Amino acid sequence: MSVYKVTSSDINYPDSITQRLQVQHLLEPTGTVSITTGSDVIKGLTQTPKTLPFKYLYDDRGSELFEQICELPEYYPTRTETKILQEYASEIVRTTGASELVELGSGSSTKTRILLDTYQELGYPMSYLPIDVSGGMLEASAIQLLQDYSCLKVHGLVGIYEQALSHLQPTQLPTRTIAFVGSSLGNMSSQECERLFCQITGALQVGEYFLLGVDLQKPKEILDGAYDDTQGVTAAFNLNMLEHLNRRFEGNFDTTQFSHWAFYNETEQQVEMHLKSAIAQTVQLQSLSLKVNFTPGETIRTEISRKFDLCGIQQDLQAHQLIPQQVWTDENQWFALILSRLCS
Ligand SMILES: C[S@@+](CC[C@H](N)C(=O)[O-])C[C@H]1O[C@@H](n2cnc3c(N)ncnc32)[C@H](O)[C@@H]1O
Repeated sequence: MSVYKVTSSDINYPDSITQRLQVQHLLEPTGTVSITTGSDVIKGLTQTPKTLPFKYLYDDRGSELFEQICELPEYYPTRTETKILQEYASEIVRTTGASELVELGSGSSTKTRILLDTYQELGYPMSYLPIDVSGGMLEASAIQLLQDYSCLKVHGLVGIYEQALSHLQPTQLPTRTIAFVGSSLGNMSSQECERLFCQITGALQVGEYFLLGVDLQKPKEILDGAYDDTQGVTAAFNLNMLEHLNRRFEGNFDTTQFSHWAFYNETEQQVEMHLKSAIAQTVQLQSLSLKVNFTPGETIRTEISRKFDLCGIQQDLQAHQLIPQQVWTDENQWFALILSRLCS
């Protein structure tokens, strides 16, 4: 893995911005998601049923499409979580006090602004560490934040969660808060969640905070619509993964021969996104020396989005010494924000 830094000299912005910005790339210099040799792609496409890691949904185009999804009428999670944050940001920030804010999967950092506004109002020092695999989105959002918050310092880490968490240095502020919002935890299997919680506790000192946003269980009709919108934006987001793989691994996926398929799997309590092959076809990923055969109707599962039970997730947190201090939900109990504190 190569590690290099982009500092003020690499970017053409005024000193007032670049002096407060550090972006550290933990990935290979060329890539958004050049995290691996592609061994995870080979593994996923050679097993039955076929799967691909959800991180490949996010190149620059994927990040843009995700932003559009957040605006869709069917996609309730973003606006519901935003409303909860708007209502309770002051309680969150007063509880954590002056705290370094580390955010996993920060994306456009749009919701983060609600917390930053509150730090600013309370006159707290503001230090933000966004972590995201999508470097273009992270850098653009960081610049925008620095333009809008004159007292903010940003230290971005471009990489995957596990990598970036192990790169955190001790904070200079009284405490650290790690935020993981947008229910991105739902994209991980329960074993992956376990591993991530262990890493989060490793990156916190006793008494520090973990702010988790989770999407809760709800009727199937609402979930089916949220992941298969009428404008086709989610379909474009899903299919873009194939374009991303084509570019990254010299592939020849023909996106017109695959279609988006998403549904709520009630047994597993998760939404599943798949790409379905329209025909019998063979796809080649040259730089991985991989040929993959598809039968008509065969699918690749590209993402899961688990829907949580509020008691169950709190128990999982407690099992990792992350003790919930406060839980906030919306009027329908569709989404929850949980602020936990690491206990010894
Ligand atoms: C569902 S979006 C959420 C964005 C934002 N936090 C929100 O709530 O709107 C997930 C974000 O996590 C990033 N991401 C996905 N997998 C990742 C991984 N393994 N490591 C780091 N970032 C990842 C994506 O690039 C994307 O910006």
